[in-house]
Amino acid sequence: MKFQANEVLNGKYMTLNIPKHVVLLPFSLLLIILPFSLMRNSHESYPQISPVSNLNNTETKECNIFSGRWIPYPEGPYYNNETCPLMLDAQNCLKSGRPDREYLHWRWKPDDCQLPLFNATQFLNRVRGKKMAFVGDSVGRNQMQSLVCLLNHVSQPEDISLKYTSVLESIRFKQYFYADYNFTIGTLWSPYFVRNSDADPNGHSRNSIMKLYLDEVDETWANKVEDFDIVIISAGQWFFRPLLFYEKGQLVGCNKCGIENVTDLGFYYGYRMAFRTAFITLTNLTRYKGVTILRTFSPSHFENGDWNKGGNCVRTKPYTKEEMKLLDFWYVMEIYRTQVQEFKAAQKEATKRGLEFLKMDTTEIMLLRPDGHPNNYGHSKDKNVTLNDCVHWCLPGPVDTWNEFLLYMLNMKREKSAWKL
Ligand SMILES: *[C@@H]1O[C@H](CO)[C@@H](O)[C@H](O)[C@H]1NC(C)=O
Ligand SMILES: *[C@@H]1O[C@H](CO)[C@@H](O)[C@H](O)[C@H]1NC(C)=O
Ligand SMILES: *[C@@H]1O[C@H](CO)[C@@H](O)[C@H](O)[C@H]1NC(C)=O
Ligand SMILES: *[C@@H]1O[C@H](CO)[C@@H](O)[C@H](O)[C@H]1NC(C)=O
Ligand SMILES: *[C@@H]1O[C@H](CO)[C@@H](O)[C@H](O)[C@H]1NC(C)=O
Ligand SMILES: *[C@@H]1O[C@H](CO)[C@@H](O)[C@H](O)[C@H]1NC(C)=O
Ligand SMILES: *[C@@H]1O[C@H](CO)[C@@H](O)[C@H](O)[C@H]1NC(C)=O
Repeated sequence: MKFQANEVLNGKYMTLNIPKHVVLLPFSLLLIILPFSLMRNSHESYPQISPVSNLNNTETKECNIFSGRWIPYPEGPYYNNETCPLMLDAQNCLKSGRPDREYLHWRWKPDDCQLPLFNATQFLNRVRGKKMAFVGDSVGRNQMQSLVCLLNHVSQPEDISLKYTSVLESIRFKQYFYADYNFTIGTLWSPYFVRNSDADPNGHSRNSIMKLYLDEVDETWANKVEDFDIVIISAGQWFFRPLLFYEKGQLVGCNKCGIENVTDLGFYYGYRMAFRTAFITLTNLTRYKGVTILRTFSPSHFENGDWNKGGNCVRTKPYTKEEMKLLDFWYVMEIYRTQVQEFKAAQKEATKRGLEFLKMDTTEIMLLRPDGHPNNYGHSKDKNVTLNDCVHWCLPGPVDTWNEFLLYMLNMKREKSAWKL
């Protein structure tokens, strides 16, 4: 791969071409990529985001933490740009002068219980002596940066990235080490999970066409992942760009390639097969004994234009569920369903092999947060073009909730299995 180190930039641009208003997109695209029956299906099943199915825990009160709503929270965030020196400028919305503050004053309230506050000491005790990796793109790294900030008042890590990789690579393979807890956290950057290469005669650019070898895992993460005890895997925006799909070395179709004779299978196809390969890899690696957590698709919120045509995200408060339904982000739910189907199939195999696969359902809760993105309050903007970031999440911000979920899931797991890894 020939990407520049600033994947912050790249990741941001790999967004779906959403015209003026999200509502307008579906019907044109839809006809190309989805049979009508599927569309009706996705519509009907839209509100049913399934609970964590694998926390079968009848003794401790089980609760679907992913079903709930955002409620006002006057106390505000756990940290800020002064107390966490480790956040990337691209997500440091406070430092970049974002004027509104309301987005910092919401908490996720599950319908049937309270989501416990994040407790950094408790988290570090849970992960003592362990290694945690975020496999995927820069939105996964966004969660890691949030976690590092949440932990920072208890323990400050050493950045050990350069022990393992070059300066150029270190933004993709970031590693922090918490000496007090012998805990390592890092990113294994691989936005497609599978082997890929540039296919555009003019080289790599934000929307250039790429080849994906859907049945061949990208060794850059697969080679390293066996060392990790907790693997949080996710993928998203990169699949929306023009892509050529290969299987068994043969071209089988594409996404938005516009080439005669090459079937446009839509991005769902590539997304599904890439997840399949990633999950098969994890279940098949002989030394891998980790817990795998699928962090489900994190939606972008471009409005008033495409991501590359002045689209932005200027809202300052969450959507209500009613508003979100009106906007009808059907394509997001379709992506969600695609990955969850692959997850469920893989989970069966994994269970047979004594591996644990868990699911962190962030899709619906983040759909409700159009106010949580940097928009133009991030500093990694292309200097020339006014591109807004409606993909990543401000720190602090609603992405901190993912780590509340993570701690909750680790606690549940511990109660269930005495944290056997
Ligand atoms: C869940 O727990 C109940 C009660 O312990 C048990 O009967 C049931 O078989 C479990 N289900 C699964 C899927 O493990
Ligand atoms: C934090 O953000 C404020 C603006 O909200 C800014 O004045 C200050 O310089 C920032 N501090 C750091 C360390 O970035
Ligand atoms: C956080 O966790 C630690 C260790 O489990 C515990 O001693 C402490 O009371 C907790 N803090 C809060 C605010 O719950
Ligand atoms: C630190 O954790 C690693 C596994 O991540 C383990 O192999 C090593 O023995 C631990 N070191 C100490 C001093 O506990
Ligand atoms: C497309 O199909 C036509 C007719 O079958 C064939 O002549 C042509 O070589 C094909 N083009 C490609 C790029 O495969
Ligand atoms: C996974 O491992 C099994 C058993 O070792 C093997 O039969 C199978 O071909 C492997 N699958 C892949 C996709 O590597
Ligand atoms: C900035 O945009 C101008 C006009 O579109 C172009 O000529 C110039 O090469 C661009 N500069 C960079 C650094 O991309």
